Amino acid sequence: MSILKIVQYGDPILREKSKEVIKISKKIKTLINDMLETMYHSNGVGLAAPQVGESLRIFVIDVSDPSGPIDPMVFVNPKIIKKSGAINSYEGCLSFPKAYTVVRRYKNVMVKALDINGRPFVIEAKDGELLARAIQHEFDHLEGHMFIDHCRNKFVANEVLAKYNLPSVQEEYLLEEKELEDEIVAWEKEHPEEIEKFRKEIEELENSKE
Ligand code: NI
Repeated sequence: MSILKIVQYGDPILREKSKEVIKISKKIKTLINDMLETMYHSNGVGLAAPQVGESLRIFVIDVSDPSGPIDPMVFVNPKIIKKSGAINSYEGCLSFPKAYTVVRRYKNVMVKALDINGRPFVIEAKDGELLARAIQHEFDHLEGHMFIDHCRNKFVANEVLAKYNLPSVQEEYLLEEKELEDEIVAWEKEHPEEIEKFRKEIEELENSKE
């Protein structure tokens, strides 16, 4: 296995729509294992094939506690078959070193995919848990989308990107997501204490990065 080079934001491959995997060959299995190794090496929660320069519909995720045993999940040719609810998600990406911002996500998702042996499986992730957000984030990479396209405030996102010497948001890719935005705003109005808690969590995460 080997550690692969991670493509950074600005590289055009991150805007391509990835191709279906026709056969899970030995070469594909090696790529998947290398992606897992690369993800663990970079302390990431997920990694998609375009991020290592392969425009293929594959991503890997591990949302387990970093202090416990690993729990690698492999998704080949994934399809999101159900999504509902709306939530704030504070996200970063291995292609955007250190840059985090608040984005809109669905709260619940159901995805269908093949595992590393080509066996189909279905998985449901609920309540805005890390897995639900990670699936959406990684799936996006296969569509040529990135987390910043879902940002709730492009000015805040641009400030963060500039701080880490990354290109600004690409206006033409910004997603309006009016329904998600409206649902989040309505929820926030009813839960001011949760917003305060979320702000504090973000602050702590930001401080722990320094
Ligand atoms: Ni990413």
